[in-house]
Amino acid sequence: MSAAFTNPKGPTTQMVTPAELGEYVANQRAQTREDWFVASRSLEPSGKERGEENRIIADVWENCDNQEYRESFSHWQGSQGFQGEHWNAVGEKTHAVLSRYLPLFSTTFQARWHTNQLAMLEWGPGGGSNLFKFAPQSRLQYAVDLSAKNLGECAARLGDQAARFRPLVLSGPPESVQTEVGEPLDLFVSTAVFQHFPSKHYGLEVLACVQALLASGGVGYIQIRYDNGNPIYLPKTIDSYGRSLGHAFATSYPLDLFAYILDKLGFEVLSARIEDPNINYAGFVFQKR
Ligand SMILES: C[S@@+](CC[C@H](N)C(=O)[O-])C[C@H]1O[C@@H](n2cnc3c(N)ncnc32)[C@H](O)[C@@H]1O
Repeated sequence: MSAAFTNPKGPTTQMVTPAELGEYVANQRAQTREDWFVASRSLEPSGKERGEENRIIADVWENCDNQEYRESFSHWQGSQGFQGEHWNAVGEKTHAVLSRYLPLFSTTFQARWHTNQLAMLEWGPGGGSNLFKFAPQSRLQYAVDLSAKNLGECAARLGDQAARFRPLVLSGPPESVQTEVGEPLDLFVSTAVFQHFPSKHYGLEVLACVQALLASGGVGYIQIRYDNGNPIYLPKTIDSYGRSLGHAFATSYPLDLFAYILDKLGFEVLSARIEDPNINYAGFVFQKR
């Protein structure tokens, strides 16, 4: 950050000593860190009226007329960056993470996992790699996305396993999903989606919805972009959402804040791991108390 230097001794012609200057700079830095700390903890909504907020998001994910960009950003099989095994890798990784922590999950969850009886919900399935990987183990697969095109692509990838697929097009607030799901769920998954939310508050609303939908002992895995003060990954205002890659850097959470939110909402955090420090990706595994 560059700011005009103000003489710490006030408007005087007196020289400032190097020590005083050092102290001043250190103090400024501390203030900047404190500002960042406070700002990064702001849990305010985006400031836009709900309908307008939905329109801004949908303009990127559903209505963008650059289909190649849309497919690649939604992680469709065969799109840029998601050819061949790269597409499968998304679901494989999610499965590997949950497999690793399986012994820590409730006995009911473990039994459903082993007998292919999971009722799951994915928020933002994009091209459907996670759904595809979990289909053989699931008795029901709900998927919430504000893009009907992406949900259509998921159905196509699921093929003859799509009979158990329940696509839900989100057109209202996150909580509107609750009335669409008829039973307590075993598993919630969301990868590479929370960073695209229009505010940290929006993610909070999604998590409150997850809390209402999961059965007691139900399991969640969420990937977030974490905020460690790196300006690239600081949360952005919704005004930059549709500009360039604005949506990809819209929302990030300090790791401890996200763990705190999960805890306060009634989840036990079983794991919080930095997954890729180059793009500030972290994964949280948790269980509803
Ligand atoms: C980057 S893709 C991730 C796809 C998939 N989860 C994966 O990891 O490959 C983001 C997905 O989230 C969806 N999405 C974006 N904002 C959303 C929101 N507020 N609610 C539901 N889905 C959303 C997009 O339409 C897209 O399908």
